[in-house]
Amino acid sequence: MKQQTLGFIGAGNMASSLIGGLISDSYPPQDIWVSDVDEMKLKDLAYRFGVHTSTDNRAIAARAQVLVLAVKPQVMQSVAVELANPIQEHSPVLISIAAGITEAALDHWVGGGAAIVRCMPNTPALVKTGATALHANEKATPEQRNQAEAIMRSVGLTVWVSSEPLLDTVTALSGSGPAYFFMLMEAMEEAAVELGLEREAARLLTQQTALGAGRIAIESEEPPAVLRCRVTSPGGTTEQAVAAFERGGFRDLVRQAMGAAARRAGELSEQLGG
Ligand SMILES: NC(=O)c1ccc[n+]([C@@H]2O[C@H](COP(=O)([O-])OP(=O)(O)OC[C@H]3O[C@@H](n4cnc5c(N)ncnc54)[C@H](OP(=O)(O)O)[C@@H]3O)[C@@H](O)[C@H]2O)c1
Repeated sequence: MKQQTLGFIGAGNMASSLIGGLISDSYPPQDIWVSDVDEMKLKDLAYRFGVHTSTDNRAIAARAQVLVLAVKPQVMQSVAVELANPIQEHSPVLISIAAGITEAALDHWVGGGAAIVRCMPNTPALVKTGATALHANEKATPEQRNQAEAIMRSVGLTVWVSSEPLLDTVTALSGSGPAYFFMLMEAMEEAAVELGLEREAARLLTQQTALGAGRIAIESEEPPAVLRCRVTSPGGTTEQAVAAFERGGFRDLVRQAMGAAARRAGELSEQLGG
């Protein structure tokens, strides 16, 4: 990634993960500037990574060529309005990771004409296995798109989507997705305990099975349906379990759950100014 001055507004969980990812990708800490209302968080980041910090959002926005907006969606409007002047003056590319804030709303709040890349990361980014979808507005240049992608790739995988509303689908898939896997893990652990296994053993075996299945799915060229068939011998145990899932309407339940999540993402986006 071409080295430019990176600014982060908000020094919370996501910003500190991204900064950690960039530093471990050899991005020079002296080119990273971070602001937050919380001085303790800034001190911690300066100590851990050697980045520059300030409690003055406007000073960071005036310095950055790439500005990552990493505050909660609820405060994004006031932060964006506060930054409108330095953004209009210096024209950094804005990288927003705030769930539900549309490119149009953000552009309006900062006074119009901004290059914006909107990203939808997920919680595993905090442990460098994130999945982030990105969409850029028409003002963002290919180089600015690459910069946004490189920042998000420092904490995991990135995928571009062809239209902004698809980020609601992404929210229902990878955004909320970790909870679906946790729920399946919860249910598997509980069922194993009911079948007589000790809790500790049930938890460990569930966790490692989730990790192993995920790793096989990522490393294989085959789609999950083929992988499932491969571990389902005719007349065997897995076949009985899969048949029970099918009888219980598992696929339809997943479809309903994700539809509900995507609809809610759209509603929240409208409430937040979309
Ligand atoms: N965490 C995730 O897994 C995840 C996943 C997808 C998307 N996101 C998005 O990422 C963004 C950041 O999430 P997060 O989990 O990192 O949140 P977070 O830990 O709460 O970080 C946000 C930081 O911004 C600070 N802040 C609040 N008002 C500010 C202001 N006016 N100026 C400067 N800083 C201000 C907060 O300080 P206080 O705590 O003192 O208010 C906090 O330190 C959110 O928009 C969220 O939608 C996060």
